[in-house]
Amino acid sequence: MTKLGIIGSGAIGAGIARLAVAARHEVVIANSRGPESLAGLVEELGESAGAGEVADAASFGEMVVLAVPLSAYGALPVDALHAKTVLSTGNYYPSRDERIEELDSHALTTAEYEQALLPGTVIVKAFNNILAHHIPALARPAGATDRSGLAVAGDDAGAKQAVGTLVSTLGFDPVDAGSLAESWRFEPESGAYTPVYVADLDVFAENYLADAGAPLPADRLRELLAASHRPDVASRTF
Ligand SMILES: NC(=O)c1ccc[n+]([C@@H]2O[C@H](COP(=O)([O-])OP(=O)(O)OC[C@H]3O[C@@H](n4cnc5c(N)ncnc54)[C@H](OP(=O)(O)O)[C@@H]3O)[C@@H](O)[C@H]2O)c1
Repeated sequence: MTKLGIIGSGAIGAGIARLAVAARHEVVIANSRGPESLAGLVEELGESAGAGEVADAASFGEMVVLAVPLSAYGALPVDALHAKTVLSTGNYYPSRDERIEELDSHALTTAEYEQALLPGTVIVKAFNNILAHHIPALARPAGATDRSGLAVAGDDAGAKQAVGTLVSTLGFDPVDAGSLAESWRFEPESGAYTPVYVADLDVFAENYLADAGAPLPADRLRELLAASHRPDVASRTF
């Protein structure tokens, strides 16, 4: 059982929270509107979950999941997150986050940029390359023949191992995707981004939410990560 703080209660944060309570972790979840707005979700999650302010979720977690837009990272409470392992699910969408020179120039990966915004934390990247509705659709118990792999990148071996253990309890086989500098391998538009979990590319193209998702074995994910290409972030239009 891990005490998990989750910051962000949207598609990704709520989805991870549901899998976390099912795996018997304790959760405190927060969003930008405050704990009252989370009453319905907390009731659904049950007695091992509570809502708090962002700093409460950060303080509570032995590990803290960030499921907020990249533009919100700079305002997160670094003191409450100090020395903690922080599982970052974020991606860079210039249309939402404004243009960020360090990312457009490839000086930093998104994960390295997040690490620079949150000094004193230990960033580990995961769950950023799978669509929110595919997370519950593809989660499976350990040992299931149709369990999917999930990329995990980080610079601290112990933190990466801890996130890998969490990922496994949530329903995926963790796949070591290298360092934060190598995490471009599963950033948007790379060769190991969300389409790798798609069941039907035609359905996906018409209405991505209608796609049911298809299991991606860990060994296949390793191949995709190895063969991935670095996206041209500066030309990103979304
Ligand atoms: N959706 C996907 O399929 C998907 C897939 C992979 C990665 N991602 C990435 O995962 C992250 C979360 O995506 P999402 O789809 O879950 O987003 P979302 O549904 O829009 O939810 C965002 C959450 O962040 C909260 N938030 C925003 N600013 C905040 C702040 N300053 N302090 C605290 N909470 C704040 C929002 O609070 P309120 O609820 O109060 O507005 C909301 O709960 C993003 O970086 C996204 O790019 C998303």
